[in-house]
Amino acid sequence: MTPSEQDPNRVLIFDTTLRDGEQSPGISLNTSEKLEIAQQLARLGVDVVEAGFPIASPGDFEAVQTIARQVEGPVIAGLARIHVGDIDAAGKALKDAARPRIHTFVSTSDIHIEHQMRATREDVLGLTRAGVAHAKGYVDDVEFSPMDATRSDVEFTAQVVQIAIDEGATTINIPDTVGYATPDEYAAFLTRLYELVPRLSEVVLSVHCHDDLGLAVANSLAGVKAGARQVECAINGLGERAGNASLEEIVMLLRTRKADLGFDTGAVTTEIARTSRLVSRLTGYVVQPNKAIIGRNAFAHESGIHQDGVLKNRETFEIMDATSIGLDSNALVLGKHSGRHALRDALAQLGIVVEGQVLNTAFKRFKEIADKKKQVTAMDLEALVTDELREDLPVYSLEWFDVEASSRRPPHATVSVKLPDGGEATGSFTGDGPIDAVFHAINAATRVDARLREFRVDAVTGGQDALGETSVVLEVDGVSGSGQGVSTDIIEAAGRAYVRALSNAVRRRSVATEAEEATAEAASRITTP
Ligand code: KIV
Ligand code: ZN
Repeated sequence: MTPSEQDPNRVLIFDTTLRDGEQSPGISLNTSEKLEIAQQLARLGVDVVEAGFPIASPGDFEAVQTIARQVEGPVIAGLARIHVGDIDAAGKALKDAARPRIHTFVSTSDIHIEHQMRATREDVLGLTRAGVAHAKGYVDDVEFSPMDATRSDVEFTAQVVQIAIDEGATTINIPDTVGYATPDEYAAFLTRLYELVPRLSEVVLSVHCHDDLGLAVANSLAGVKAGARQVECAINGLGERAGNASLEEIVMLLRTRKADLGFDTGAVTTEIARTSRLVSRLTGYVVQPNKAIIGRNAFAHESGIHQDGVLKNRETFEIMDATSIGLDSNALVLGKHSGRHALRDALAQLGIVVEGQVLNTAFKRFKEIADKKKQVTAMDLEALVTDELREDLPVYSLEWFDVEASSRRPPHATVSVKLPDGGEATGSFTGDGPIDAVFHAINAATRVDARLREFRVDAVTGGQDALGETSVVLEVDGVSGSGQGVSTDIIEAAGRAYVRALSNAVRRRSVATEAEEATAEAASRITTP
């Protein structure tokens, strides 16, 4: 029995950060980063994690398979176009999941059918019948989406949905793919579908709204009021173009207005802030300061009147308590005398279990930081863990650097980098600034011609001794990689982030090359008699 069958007002949260969110330009997460996010989503208590689009690339397949094998709690979904090859890839990637779901879709709008698919409505009906039946051969839990539904003829959409339900779909998702609908129109579309397809009330109705007109959350709420009991959304509102409905807004909207709206979710709201920070860090997508719920100003009061009111009674100007989204996480504090056990316990409190060599590495980095910074808080530890422990197979690592910086001559950097074969190489460069010099010196040492695409520096917490957190996105032969680095010294943090990003790009480039070689070899076997 699903939670919404047990409680008719329980809204399921379907998180698509790792699928629709990952389609945002410039995001390139590797498998271990996706796994880390999926594990955090499980802590956040989402009902479904859409882990990726297995047919899209070998990397996507591997990520969905790894998440399916290792993440406990939520249903793990994989996306598939309504074609046999896509569905087979999703079925195989999800094979080891405790609760697998195939999410398959086909467009129903005439504009997509004619211009994108170059097909007919008849074709769509046939594809839906065959595709959903094929997916049912792999899993019981099949979700079907008529893409671009809100610009489709509702009668035709109803026909397609009817077929999907007849073939065994258990969730019907109605996407506002291009973010065009208004709340009234969206609700009316869903209400009409219920009239045309009475069996729709036997399955879970889901909403998937894009934010092109800034209406994704409002449309999702309208959908829930019209009967939907699953909302598809993404952390920090990530997703194609203007993004998807933001998970934190939906969850806190239903929680804060529960008394009036009557709905709620199973989300552990105190994990929201941390999930948002993790996703922002790993994707390199900054959260705007005034973003609802998770923006850094969402609970800040600037004007004197507001400050005065809040000091007298928080409810004068606050409709939510900051602690309800986990913004009190700086309570946990370690210092330079804290030992290995204290670090392990502190990480465990953050839901991060580390033992053995990984704990040794974490402890070494913690000591380096604690020597320079009086107090190491939960937020510092989070940043440190993102920086240090996510490493799967380190390709390169930064050993040391020397930078000569002056306002009277161009800065010069020399770096030493550990190479994949265990050896060490040094490189030097005279650059435009000290960080530019370090980045080019790393290129020289590794002999990789990486091009910097994005570079960001943030302070993890306030205060003069705050940790600097840097984020780098670069490209190697057209393959992008991102990396983060943390240190009290921003040049060191930048160098660490650059070497990580370069390692990620090199690793991704070799996976892409292997896949191309395998495809070429398979093709040559077909053509060679
Ligand atoms: O926006 C959309 O239509 C989608 C589908 C694949 C559900 O993301
Ligand atoms: Zn979408």
